[in-house]
Amino acid sequence: MYYPDETVEEVLRANDVVDIISPYVQLKRSGANYFGLCPFHSEKSPSFSVSPGKQIFYCFGCGAGGNALTFLMKYENCSFQEALKKLADRAGIRLPEQQRSEEMRKREERRNLLLSINRESAVYYYKMLRSPKGAAGLRYLEGRQLSKETMKSFGLGFADGASSDLTAHLREKGFPDDAILEAGVAAFDEKRGLHDKFWNRVMFPIQDQAGRVIGFGGRVMGEGKPKYLNSPETPVFDKSRNLYGLNLARRSRKPYRILCEGYMDVIAMHQAGFTEAVASLGTSFTEGQAAILKRLVSEVILSYDSDEAGTRAAIRNMNILRRAGVRCRVLDLRPHKDPDEFIKAEGKEAFQKRIDEAENAFFFEIRTQQGNYRMDDPAQRTEFCRFIAKKLCAFEEEMERENYLAAAAQKYMIREDVLRRMVASYDSAGAGKDEEAEQRPRPRTLPAGGRESAAEKAQRENEKLLLTWIADEPVVWPQIRDHIHAEDFPGEITRRAAERFFQLLEKDPEHPGAAAAGAVGIFTEEEEQREAAALFETRLKQPPEDREKALKDILTSVRRASVQRLAAQADENPALLTQLISAKKSMEALGRLKIRLP
Ligand code: UTP
Ligand code: MN
Repeated sequence: MYYPDETVEEVLRANDVVDIISPYVQLKRSGANYFGLCPFHSEKSPSFSVSPGKQIFYCFGCGAGGNALTFLMKYENCSFQEALKKLADRAGIRLPEQQRSEEMRKREERRNLLLSINRESAVYYYKMLRSPKGAAGLRYLEGRQLSKETMKSFGLGFADGASSDLTAHLREKGFPDDAILEAGVAAFDEKRGLHDKFWNRVMFPIQDQAGRVIGFGGRVMGEGKPKYLNSPETPVFDKSRNLYGLNLARRSRKPYRILCEGYMDVIAMHQAGFTEAVASLGTSFTEGQAAILKRLVSEVILSYDSDEAGTRAAIRNMNILRRAGVRCRVLDLRPHKDPDEFIKAEGKEAFQKRIDEAENAFFFEIRTQQGNYRMDDPAQRTEFCRFIAKKLCAFEEEMERENYLAAAAQKYMIREDVLRRMVASYDSAGAGKDEEAEQRPRPRTLPAGGRESAAEKAQRENEKLLLTWIADEPVVWPQIRDHIHAEDFPGEITRRAAERFFQLLEKDPEHPGAAAAGAVGIFTEEEEQREAAALFETRLKQPPEDREKALKDILTSVRRASVQRLAAQADENPALLTQLISAKKSMEALGRLKIRLP
C-alpha cells in the first residue's frame, strides 16, 4: 500500500528514534550521538550510532542504517507497512485509507492472537514437562544429557495430549476454536472434533529473532514415525524466514554462525558453549534465511551429515550463501554423524578444533566431486579441470579468483596459465553464473555499465560527505542552497533522497533535524533505506583543519562533476548548450562563495 511521504514524515516526527531503538540496544550518549553494540552484526566495541539530531541510526561496522522504520523492519523482520503501522499506533496517529488499513489491523490482530496461543501452549508444555505427567519426557531429555538449564533456555516441554488437554486448556482461556486450529497446536476431524496435534512427544518451541514462540517441533521419545512432528506454516510461522536457535545465536559475539540440520544439534552445541549455532526448520535452507545470516556475519560454517544427502545439501546451501555474500566453510565431523554425537564422544575442545580446521567451501565442493572422475584417464581429468574452471568463474572479484585459481592449480597439479585461460574462456561464455544468480538484479549502486572506477567511487564519497555535512550542520544550507541541486547527484537513490532532503530543509528551516529521516522514509525497501542512510553518515576520516575550505572543496567537486556530465551530454545534444553555459556561469559564482561555519 502506498502512503504519502507526508504521512511517513508525520509518523517519523512523532517517534523519537532513540526511544524506538533503546529497548533493543543498550545506548550510551557520546557527544551529539548515542552508541551501542550493533544488533545486526557481531562486534565487541560499539560502532552502532543513533543520531537524535538526524533521527537516523547507522553502523560504522556493517553499514546497517536507516530511520526508526528501517530499524523495526530489520529487527522485527517486518514490512514497511507493518513498521509504519506500529509507529503510527504508538504515537496515536491514524493512517489514511481506512479500508485497507482496517484489513491490515485485522491481520495484525489475528497474528497477535495466534502468537498468544503459541505462548500459552509453550507455557503449558513447559509446565507439563516439570509435572508428574511429564516424567517420561524428562527422563528422555536427561537420557540425551541435557541439563536443566539447557532445557530451560530452550523452553523445552512435554505434550501429553492423551485427552486433548491443551485444547481444553486453551478453550478455557477463552481462545476461539478456529484460532486454536490455525495456530497449528490442534487438528480437526469429524470423529474427534478439535483435538491436540501433539501427543506424547517432547516439545521444542520454535522462536523468532525476538524470542516469540511461532511454532513447535515435537519429537517421539525413542523410535517412531514421524520422528519430529512440526507445526504447519501459519501467518506467524514462516519456515523460510526463521532459524532455530536464532533468538539466542543472534547475541553470539563470534564472527561466524554454525548452520546445521537438527534441533538437537543446535541444543547440544549451545550446551557445550557454541551459542553461535542455528538450524533450518525441517525444510530446505532458503535465500531468506541466508539474508538473515548475512546481516549477522560474513561467514557461515556448515555442519551437515557426511553422507551423500548431507553433502548435497551442504553444496546446495553454500551456493545460496555465496550468492547472498556470505563466505562458507564446511565442518568435517567424521567418524561421527552430527554435532550432537561428536560433542558427546569427543568433547568441546575437539569440536572447536574441527571448527578451526573447517574446510573452505570451494575446495570442499571440488574435493567431493573429484571422486566422480578417474584421474588417470586424460579425458576424465580434462573434464575435472573444466569443472574447476567453471567453479572459479563464480568468483567475481579478480583478486579472490586469482588466489583460488593459484591454490587450485597447485593442489590438483594443473598448469596455472592453462587453467587461467580456461577460466577466461568460460567466463566470457557466461559459465559459472547459474541461472538463479543470473536472474538476480545487480546491486543498485553500481552504474548499469559495470564496475565503478576509482574516480567514480571518490565522487560518490564526496556526494555523501556533502549531504552528511548539511545534515550535521543545517546552518550551511541557506548559504549553499543556490549552488547545489538534486540533479547534481547522478545515482538514482542519492538523487531522490537529496531531492526530498532539500525540500524538507526548505519547508521547515526551524526544525531541520528530521529531514534526513524523512529523506530515508521515501524508500520502502530495507536495502534502499540503508543506502539512503549512509548518505547522511559519511564523514572525513579526520576533521579538516580548515573546515570552511574542506566543505567548499567537497561542494565544488560535486558540482564540477555534474557540470562535466552535462557537458558530455551537450556534445550529443546541442539543445543542452544554453543550460551548459549557465551551469558554467554558476561555477564561477560558486568560486566566489564564502562559507561561514560556527
Ligand atoms: P535429524 O534426524 O538429524 O534429527 O533431523 P536431530 O535433530 O538430529 O534429532 P535427534 O538427534 O535424532 O533426536 C534433522 C532435522 O530435520 C527435521 C527436524 O527439524 C530435525 O531437527 N526433521 C527430521 C523433521 O522435521 N521431521 C522428521 O521426521 C525428521
Ligand atoms: Mn541427531
